[in-house]
Amino acid sequence: MGILSYRLWQHARRLCGLVFRISRVIENFCCKRLETYTVEIEKNYKNNMIKTAQLHNMATHPDESYYQHQYLHWLEKALEDLVKKMPGFGKSNVLDLGCGQGRLTIPLSIWCLKRGCKKIIGVDISAHALDFARKSAGQEGMGDAIEFIEDDILDFLQSQKSSSFSVIVCTEVLYCYPAYEKVLQEITRVLVPGGLLFAGFRSRYFNILHSIALRKMSSLSVILNQNEGYPWGPPTKFSWHNVIDARKVILNAGFDAPSCKGIGICSGIEGDPLARIARPSMLTNEEQNELMTVELALAEEMADCGRYILITATKRNDNQ
Ligand SMILES: C[S@@+](CC[C@H](N)C(=O)[O-])C[C@H]1O[C@@H](n2cnc3c(N)ncnc32)[C@H](O)[C@@H]1O
Repeated sequence: MGILSYRLWQHARRLCGLVFRISRVIENFCCKRLETYTVEIEKNYKNNMIKTAQLHNMATHPDESYYQHQYLHWLEKALEDLVKKMPGFGKSNVLDLGCGQGRLTIPLSIWCLKRGCKKIIGVDISAHALDFARKSAGQEGMGDAIEFIEDDILDFLQSQKSSSFSVIVCTEVLYCYPAYEKVLQEITRVLVPGGLLFAGFRSRYFNILHSIALRKMSSLSVILNQNEGYPWGPPTKFSWHNVIDARKVILNAGFDAPSCKGIGICSGIEGDPLARIARPSMLTNEEQNELMTVELALAEEMADCGRYILITATKRNDNQ
């Protein structure tokens, strides 16, 4: 009986060892697959972004130039306040992350240089978009004032010293950046205390309208109950926010006093749900002016309904 029990015990031990080794092999295999999958998603995301930037020129698209003016209205207003509060603004460096064709970088640089600003940098992964931006900057006489760098925004930020920029702009980029919270962390690190961030988030309301317009009803619960995911399937991971959630994200990242403005509350570009109401390029100049007046007037009250939510916030000074 003793020998039998001993043999059984030995078999059981051998079996357990075998099961353990098999589970390690399976685990290693799954980890490798997961790594490959993550690298593939990252590669797909970047290729998609580069392709889109080649097809959609943010600086020349007739609808986008209307929103350029809307952004600049809010950017210049907040920058005027910053110039008053920050006596050293003249020594500032300004950074435009995911600058595309320079739709905002170039007019901003003209504005900043007039106030003695030192350096403006635009970063983008699309070489094609940057070529366009460099040519436009040259035509505006800003060729030497702006440095356009081809890089991933997170890689670029990680290569920068802490507290090296006074103003960072990042519009219409974070909503399709898979690790946008990591980007925000790095933005906080490289901004000087009291420095200004302009960040654009996709609004939850926009994604809800978009899904309904496409009759993709199955994506609605994801959009309602989460802030990120694949509502329309892989490969692009999106994030979306309402004003309350966007404020939380910005406060958690180390900022104070976030203010939210809706961009394009009553209108949209081709393919947007609100393009059914109005596409700026289909309006006369007077109609565009009227639309702009209304959208600016409602920007704060109806921020949740914008195509994007533009957040303006100041980096917290932890010594205060
Ligand atoms: C919708 S456009 C916005 C361009 C610009 N911010 C504007 O408002 O006109 C998005 C831009 O972000 C760039 N982009 C996307 N992901 C990026 C990344 N990981 N690193 C650098 N640029 C990126 C794209 O190449 C594209 O030019």
